[in-house]
Amino acid sequence: MSNAHQVRDGADVQDPALSRFDVVREGARLDDIEIVHYEPPFPVPGTKQERRLTRTIAGMFLLVGLLATAFLAIYIWWPWQFSKSGWLYYTPLLGVTLGLALLLVGIGLLAWGKKLMPKEVSVQDRHTGPSPEADRRIVGETLVYVTDELGVRRRPLLGLSLLAGLAPVGAVAAAPLIGGLIENPHKNNQMFTTGWAPREGNLIRLTREDGTPIRPEDVSAGGQMTVFPGIPGGHSNEYADSPTLLIHLRTDAAQTARAANERKGKQDYMYGNYIAYSKICTHAGCPASLYEQQTNRLLCPCHQSQFLIVDNATPVFGPANRPLPQLPLDVDAEGFFVAKSDFTETVGPDFWERP
Ligand code: FES
Repeated sequence: MSNAHQVRDGADVQDPALSRFDVVREGARLDDIEIVHYEPPFPVPGTKQERRLTRTIAGMFLLVGLLATAFLAIYIWWPWQFSKSGWLYYTPLLGVTLGLALLLVGIGLLAWGKKLMPKEVSVQDRHTGPSPEADRRIVGETLVYVTDELGVRRRPLLGLSLLAGLAPVGAVAAAPLIGGLIENPHKNNQMFTTGWAPREGNLIRLTREDGTPIRPEDVSAGGQMTVFPGIPGGHSNEYADSPTLLIHLRTDAAQTARAANERKGKQDYMYGNYIAYSKICTHAGCPASLYEQQTNRLLCPCHQSQFLIVDNATPVFGPANRPLPQLPLDVDAEGFFVAKSDFTETVGPDFWERP
């Protein structure tokens, strides 16, 4: 311990002549904590080395602020929608800016603690029972003392830079929560249209992954096929909400399904014995594609939701609580399947203001 911090054992903590360290040390002693080693990092304050270290750490904190601000700017203005130029980098850029910001906060605080804080070794015997009255002052003085030891008063640059760096980090934490206020999620009606929405008055064909259109005779009775909207990129992630399961029901099952459709006002949704449902599970968005022909149930492998295909794909088991949206079917003049319209219900997991 440096000489400046020598203190008498059993000192009166109310004595105004005591230095702050004396009070802290006495308080520690009353709590059976003995400070056995104390070594200030810079015995002569304000040296070149100390100032350089302070500037380096402050620089880190300011960089944190810049990175967090960059995160916010990307979050708000970067074109996140699927497009060849923008979408590829949206998520990685969010990750890199936030990751680096948090890493620098950690490195900065570690460097502050290791390089600028005094090295202190204390030994404490555990004890029980309440502390004496004098502890009030001791606790107060200790808190102020710790602030002093952090060096914020002597090095205001550090405190200011930390504040400037962490303020945008706080805003980053809030950004996803208030994202809907920053970006309108309903812009361009993007949550309510899929690749099946008619384009320029033309109905969209049902196609295989390779883009070839499908005729009714391509799916045998009891069979099923995953279909995509017959538009450019219809099978790609650009239209990730559009994969649909086309099922050719057996006659008796088709009759049951037709009757169920009629009850819901969907009498013209089926084409003959063919029926089509969105593959995007209404629970959490997994592909519900395990079709069990015997029971006419469609199973989602993620959390075992089951949908009854012959009853408007109503969920009959598992966590999903909303039926799979049904795609209205027809056949065009050339004999290929088309979607009469887009889905008439929201595809995928629910959201609170679903109409
Ligand atoms: S995502 Fe289908 S059951 Fe959970």
